[in-house]
Amino acid sequence: GIKIVTIGGGSSYTPELVEGFIKRYDELPVRELWLVDIPAGEKKLQIVGALAKRMVEKAGVPIDIRLTLDRRKALEGADFVTTQIRVGLLDARIKDETIPLKYGVIGQETNGPGGLFKGLRTIPVILDICRDMEELCPDAWLINFTNPAGMVTEAVLRYTSRRKVIGLCNVPIGMKMGVSSLLGVEQERVHIDFAGLNHMVFGLGVYVDGENVTAQVIDKLSGEQTGITMKNILDLGWDKDFLKALGILPCPYHRYYYQTKAMLEHELEEAQKNGTRAEVVKKVEEELFELYKDPELAIKPPQLELRGGAYYSEAACNLIDSLYNDRRDIQPVNVRNNGAIASIPDDSAVEVNCVITREGPIPLAVGDLPVPVRGLVQQIKSFERVAAEAAVTGDYHQALLAMTINPLVASDAIAKKLLDEMLEAHKEHLPQF
Ligand code: G6P
Ligand code: MN
Ligand code: MN
Repeated sequence: GIKIVTIGGGSSYTPELVEGFIKRYDELPVRELWLVDIPAGEKKLQIVGALAKRMVEKAGVPIDIRLTLDRRKALEGADFVTTQIRVGLLDARIKDETIPLKYGVIGQETNGPGGLFKGLRTIPVILDICRDMEELCPDAWLINFTNPAGMVTEAVLRYTSRRKVIGLCNVPIGMKMGVSSLLGVEQERVHIDFAGLNHMVFGLGVYVDGENVTAQVIDKLSGEQTGITMKNILDLGWDKDFLKALGILPCPYHRYYYQTKAMLEHELEEAQKNGTRAEVVKKVEEELFELYKDPELAIKPPQLELRGGAYYSEAACNLIDSLYNDRRDIQPVNVRNNGAIASIPDDSAVEVNCVITREGPIPLAVGDLPVPVRGLVQQIKSFERVAAEAAVTGDYHQALLAMTINPLVASDAIAKKLLDEMLEAHKEHLPQF
């Protein structure tokens, strides 16, 4: 049997994972699922843990659900460790999304200043988990959903000796689902050549039954609303001529880069009306936990799909299943580039289609990214690297550099003010500075 440890197990997303393991039990026999959290998350852990227990009981699968605040005890002998933590909880996210807006900069938890600070808070904790894993379960896979997933994977590859690390995101699976409904064909018939970085991934080619349909998809995607988005990202549509010129499929997060002004205006409006996304999510979460408390509830409630991370368990469980069963199917994940994308260093993390084997994901060679997007992808990779270095060293100047070179931050003067204000606002969770 398999031992899985989920750090941040008190997250409202946990029922997704549990549902995924239940569905696959015959081929992926999970013996123990340890849900780990910190004392501040204990109440949520108890509620969601009780729901998880009801779910496996109702489904009649013998998965032993264990709840604990003792991370080291949980990690002992683990086969797979998944991380879904939020350092500083949603209150820190509110700051990430609010402070940049004062300076006319996008406030987003994985892009721009918010992404930088989420990385600065998160990376030291993930590296700590890696140290524990080296001692307690050196052969386990670390599967990280914690954002910014690309930057976190980069940090693990660069600052630890761990090679069994995979960063995971639901954006590619969301794009695939979007394309399949756009074309009216089953998901299994759709194949997308994904390449780029986390939340900066492109569909270089789209195929149905092996036939290249990229041009049709691009044609259908243009217009008022694309239908291909995430719950947390406004669907402003894409300009027909721009998309035609681009010739490849952008991901929903590209709106922050190609539609910066409109996205900023929308964020400012929303912040006035309903608060930032983090505040909306806070309410959704409260409602979810109210539902989770219901002793009659023994399934994943559909309301969970209101979260941007909906369906992430599909990605997670498919990945674990293919690693365990050596399925050798193709999945887009965040791994060491190893030459797959020519314009990105071999030792950096990229999000790219991989063949998933028992020994790990093997990235499929892409060659170079198209010239019009290559520079932006490289720039974001430089940002991630400098940010990861700042997170590890606590060096003010590296953090300033990361803030200033981010394409969403317009000038050095704004970068410095933003950095100083955010360092102060988050200092409780930035002991390295
Ligand atoms: C997307 C991203 C996730 C992110 C989520 C936020 O799905 O891929 O990485 O965590 O959105 O969703 P939320 O409901 O928290 O705004
Ligand atoms: Mn993601
Ligand atoms: Mn310095």
